[in-house]
Amino acid sequence: MHKDIKQVLFNEEEIIQRAKELGEQITNDYAGQQLVVVSLLKGAVYFTAELTKNIDLPVRLDFMISSSYGNDTSSAGSINVIKDLDEKIAGKHVLIIDDIIDTGLTLEKISKLLEMRNPLSVKTAVLLDKGARRVNEMNADYVGFAIPDEFVVGYGLDFAGDYRNLPIIGILKPAVFAKK
Ligand code: PRP
Repeated sequence: MHKDIKQVLFNEEEIIQRAKELGEQITNDYAGQQLVVVSLLKGAVYFTAELTKNIDLPVRLDFMISSSYGNDTSSAGSINVIKDLDEKIAGKHVLIIDDIIDTGLTLEKISKLLEMRNPLSVKTAVLLDKGARRVNEMNADYVGFAIPDEFVVGYGLDFAGDYRNLPIIGILKPAVFAKK
């Protein structure tokens, strides 16, 4: 185990297996359709790669980077898009992929923003759901694992930019927080 990790919640095998299951579910749900996957950088890169490999449909992959103006509003207008999609989504089925839903503000804002562009549908998939922290009604349509309210890193999730490349989801040692 990595020296800064207190506990491994999900190892690589478990994550790969869960991505397989979700991929099959998505393949069935969208049978006969095409899908535009919108991956939210940076955290979503690892889960996006793992999940989309298991979606047996014509998939187009696009990326977005956003930052929030704060937590006081959930309107789509308050989101700052740093990198927008390369392709148009009007008339397409859109699946937003993120590493984690926490307060729910990111997914709510991005969903609302993309819905304004007249897609056929907008759904969401996340690897992790930290339900205890939610501040709105947002829930992801496809969830890898529900997790407790702990600071987790790895598989795309960072602490101050570090640990994204760990091939597991783990809880960070409190001593690591204290140092920063
Ligand atoms: C993290 C994570 C989600 C969001 C979830 O992104 O990747 O996008 O926060 O939190 P929320 O549900 O409370 O909105 P972050 O802004 O840290 O960027 P990153 O993906 O580059 O790590």
